[in-house]
Amino acid sequence: MKSYQDIKEILIAGGGMMGKNIAFVMTGNPAFRVTIYDLYPTDVEAGIRANTKQLVERGHLTEADLAERLTRIYFTTDIDDAAVAKADLVIEAVFEDMGIKRDIFAKLEARCAEDTIFCTNSSVMSPSEISAELVHRERFVGTHFWNPGHLIPLVEVVKTDATADGVAETVMEVLASAGKKPCLCKKDVPGFIANRLQHALWREAISIVEHGIADAETVDIAIKNSFGLRLPQLSALENSDMVGTQLTWNIHSYVLPHLEDSHEPSPLLKQMLDEGKLGFKSGEGFMKWTQEEIDACNADLNSYLIHMLYER
Ligand SMILES: NC(=O)c1ccc[n+]([C@@H]2O[C@H](COP(=O)([O-])OP(=O)(O)OC[C@H]3O[C@@H](n4cnc5c(N)ncnc54)[C@H](O)[C@@H]3O)[C@@H](O)[C@H]2O)c1
Repeated sequence: MKSYQDIKEILIAGGGMMGKNIAFVMTGNPAFRVTIYDLYPTDVEAGIRANTKQLVERGHLTEADLAERLTRIYFTTDIDDAAVAKADLVIEAVFEDMGIKRDIFAKLEARCAEDTIFCTNSSVMSPSEISAELVHRERFVGTHFWNPGHLIPLVEVVKTDATADGVAETVMEVLASAGKKPCLCKKDVPGFIANRLQHALWREAISIVEHGIADAETVDIAIKNSFGLRLPQLSALENSDMVGTQLTWNIHSYVLPHLEDSHEPSPLLKQMLDEGKLGFKSGEGFMKWTQEEIDACNADLNSYLIHMLYER
């Protein structure tokens, strides 16, 4: 079984939006060389330069560092390239399609060493299912990066029903060495850790709008100006300890029976879909959006993340 010291050659399968960012992230460890394999040619350097533009402009990444990191990223469209076969660790970021993912891992298993570690970046698909047909399932693990992958620190490392403990530990070490914040998800459950938490909040937020308790703008104002503001400093379970277990128990006894617990998407979402309210895509979702507001929302998010991560 490979340990952290054995990992030098990283293969990213799929050089799209996530694949390019993950490749850049992995060069954060100067010992790593990265190969991106994709079916189609893609300008990796242009993609990474565009994604990291704000980091360079704000002085958090020097042009010299970026140029050096790009020299350690190699691209191929040939799955029989020697760089594919010599991968110590693979992170797959191809289309979110079970058939395509299983097919690429079958091809890689036939070409890579028996102890190469395989990781999938699937956001929602079960790593146990993706790896179901492999011979060496024990060296397979989920690595769920968040978008934008070059900025969001979290990577959920998801153990399958067959992942060897040592493999998950090695992947955690590898990710930490490249500057990420890996978190171990001990069970392969839908939504892993962070999306379960995020969508518990979204379900309640949508329910509040659906039941006329507050409009969409008000819900977001309430979140951003209360617990949302302090979350990076004081998270849920720290907060519970701060107020005390007895108070948490008392609040839950009183309020939980009244919270949304539907196991179906809200009827409001269905109504919005039927009305063509698709969000940014159509200029209206819960709120109305002009193109300028959409552009500003995207740019402001990256700017905010850079501020929180590098400038506080
Ligand atoms: N977009 C996100 O916000 C996000 C966040 C976390 C995880 N993910 C996951 O990451 C993965 C990739 O997402 P993305 O947004 O980068 O997609 P994308 O469409 O930008 O990129 C996918 C890339 O995979 C390549 N590809 C497809 N089939 C291939 C094959 N058989 N062999 C080699 N390359 C192949 C495509 O040519 C493309 O370049 C998905 O599993 C997705 O669920 C996405």
